[in-house]
Amino acid sequence: MRVEWRSVEEKWADHGFVPSDSQEWRRICLFGQGTYDAPHGRVLYAVVRALRPRRILEIGTGRGFSALAMALAQRDAGLHDGRILTIDVIAHGRLQHWHNPRRHVKDDPAAVGPISRKELLKDFGGLIDGRVEFETGSSLEKLASLPQGSMHFAFIDGDHSLVGVSRDWEYVRRILAPQGSVAFDDYDAGTDLGEILSSRILRNIRGCRRIGGILRSGRLPSWLSRDQHKYIRKVLFPGVHRVVERIYAEGSWNLEVFPYLGSLSIALLIPTAVSVC
Ligand SMILES: C[S@@+](CC[C@H](N)C(=O)[O-])C[C@H]1O[C@@H](n2cnc3c(N)ncnc32)[C@H](O)[C@@H]1O
Repeated sequence: MRVEWRSVEEKWADHGFVPSDSQEWRRICLFGQGTYDAPHGRVLYAVVRALRPRRILEIGTGRGFSALAMALAQRDAGLHDGRILTIDVIAHGRLQHWHNPRRHVKDDPAAVGPISRKELLKDFGGLIDGRVEFETGSSLEKLASLPQGSMHFAFIDGDHSLVGVSRDWEYVRRILAPQGSVAFDDYDAGTDLGEILSSRILRNIRGCRRIGGILRSGRLPSWLSRDQHKYIRKVLFPGVHRVVERIYAEGSWNLEVFPYLGSLSIALLIPTAVSVC
């Protein structure tokens, strides 16, 4: 079965899988503001509340917003022994020009300049300590050592190229437990490129340095060369979509698509043998 939901509320509000207006959720939304807004986290929150995965694998930590949303969902679902392993090529302690929500706080020494993810997340210790494990390295290198069938849910949001997503999926399908589910970010990327391309990927596009411009505009800027345009549209853009369609075509998965911002969406694949709500 394949369903495209208009919103995550449409599917799950009746079951209470939408975060209540708790203080913790509001803090997470503030943390996400400016890059990934609340709807993206709401989808992940609702998916984790509904599926109740005890062990979660995430490829692509970014600043940690998605990990926070999933950690809150695990906690709200009563999964006190829940664990999230999140992998990123960017080290937890590395100083970066992340979007910093504290920049609006007057006289906060951490408000300007580069900052590490660790520092950004330091006020969320109560939620993530002992639950979220931050691993540094490429997914390929890290996934190879994870035991078969050890994860109940995976969120794939790292390298979005066809080659990258395909490779990640080949590892993830081994690591998933038999009834495990998987979600892919940016299934329908539309034109909101800013949400698709991580700074790491952009840096790898030949000669491309002006990351901020893309992230803010969400469109392919004119200063990219024709080759870069072509590479982004032909290689990076359709990777997630094609891999998800391929998995769905195997016939053993239900596919649910949740829009969260403009044309962006998360695709959730649940084994047909599993029924949720
Ligand atoms: C879109 S961001 C992740 C956002 C995060 N999941 C969230 O929703 O808040 C993508 C991240 O994937 C990382 N990345 C890209 N390719 C990767 C790979 N092969 N292995 C590990 N991390 C990767 C990038 O460094 C970047 O931080």
